[in-house]
Amino acid sequence: MDRIVVQGGQRLIGEVEVSGSKNAALPQMTAALLTDEPLTIRGMPDLVDVSTTKALLQTLGVKIEGAREMTLDASDVSSTEAPYDVVRRMRASILVLGPLVARFGHAKVSLPGGCAIGVRPINLHLAGLRSMGVKIDLEHGYVVAQGKPQGAKVVFDFPTVGGTENILMAATLAKGTTVIENAAREPEIVDLARLLSAMGAKIEGAGSEVITVEGVERLHGADWDLMPDRIETGTLMTAAAITRGNVLLRGARAGDLEAVVEKFKDAGVSIEPQTDGVRVSCVDRPRAVDLRTAPYPGFPTDMQAQFMALMTLAQGTSVITETIFENRFMHVPELRRLGAQIQIEGRSAVVRGVELPSGATVMATDLRASASLVLAGLAASGTTIVRRVYHLDRGYERIERKLASLGATIRREKE
Ligand code: UD1
Repeated sequence: MDRIVVQGGQRLIGEVEVSGSKNAALPQMTAALLTDEPLTIRGMPDLVDVSTTKALLQTLGVKIEGAREMTLDASDVSSTEAPYDVVRRMRASILVLGPLVARFGHAKVSLPGGCAIGVRPINLHLAGLRSMGVKIDLEHGYVVAQGKPQGAKVVFDFPTVGGTENILMAATLAKGTTVIENAAREPEIVDLARLLSAMGAKIEGAGSEVITVEGVERLHGADWDLMPDRIETGTLMTAAAITRGNVLLRGARAGDLEAVVEKFKDAGVSIEPQTDGVRVSCVDRPRAVDLRTAPYPGFPTDMQAQFMALMTLAQGTSVITETIFENRFMHVPELRRLGAQIQIEGRSAVVRGVELPSGATVMATDLRASASLVLAGLAASGTTIVRRVYHLDRGYERIERKLASLGATIRREKE
């Protein structure tokens, strides 16, 4: 197993390229199942979750070539069953359900089960498909879906990201019109809808609460450029801010993370959109600000841990409330090992800023928690060792190299 060793205290200065979006890439790869023509996606990030999705699609018979520019060919799908062994490794595997049932009229997908940050059920995905006339049974830990989806009104109790993506993909080939109400509005939903439209789908309203999809007979292949990763962008913004650095994030789109940019500005961090990206700089010690995670356009839960790392050394006290996942404060005990002063009160963490965190050995528990520990390590005095970094590799493309290129003293080593 690898670990990351950070020697804190270097200001990050320079330019770095933002990678393609993980959370856009995963549903877009599964969208290849909707057509018998090749789909090419450019700007794919090199991540463990992308490899897992690739392995899953290959077990279904999808032929996949290339890495950065990936071509997926689902002309010869040999199985519609997503086995437990792959699904347990990554919850987003459930995103094959909508496309499989839409094109083939049947699918069998292992139930994803819980994960460290919360229970994360898929009841809303299943209720949506049931509204579209798909018969859903739960058998021996598998979701068994039968029957092609029909156009229908699907009303979500909560704007689920994965649920919206599954229903959106299912609706593209459904007979009739589907209206998704209380849809998730994340930029990744908009990117997926644009890709599906490029494949011949008829979609209106993506990015708003109501998405309307008029089903078509068939979809065709497409050539597609993936959007930049807004969570990697926010993470690198935090790296610049926490070290009081000055960094140009090439290819970043500030418009995809306005709620985060607002909080940075309130904390005294300068964020300036430029033609080739976004410049982030911070001169003084950041000020404490409160925040509450919420579905887009609110503050993303996927940036909560990283922003908390910044708040551990802010002037004043910040209250950070997590409303999306029930157990997403696992980074708190680890940040405390680095000298942070944090109390958990129900769904809120009260963070009292300290002058300077101090390096220690910490353990990564999930993807974004791992990132927060690396960030805190960049600012801490002495050496921070982050163990179990495989979580980090699920969602960040060689982050230690990107940080090192900006002047951080950071390396990866075998345990
Ligand atoms: C996606 C993102 C993830 C992000 C999350 C919230 C991907 C691959 N992952 O995950 O990084 O943290 O959005 O922004 O894009 N829920 C239910 N029933 C359901 C579905 C969801 O109760 O059927 C609940 C979940 O338990 C959770 C909340 O809704 O508490 C949000 O889940 P959802 O929006 O579906 O997140 P994911 O698509 O899993």
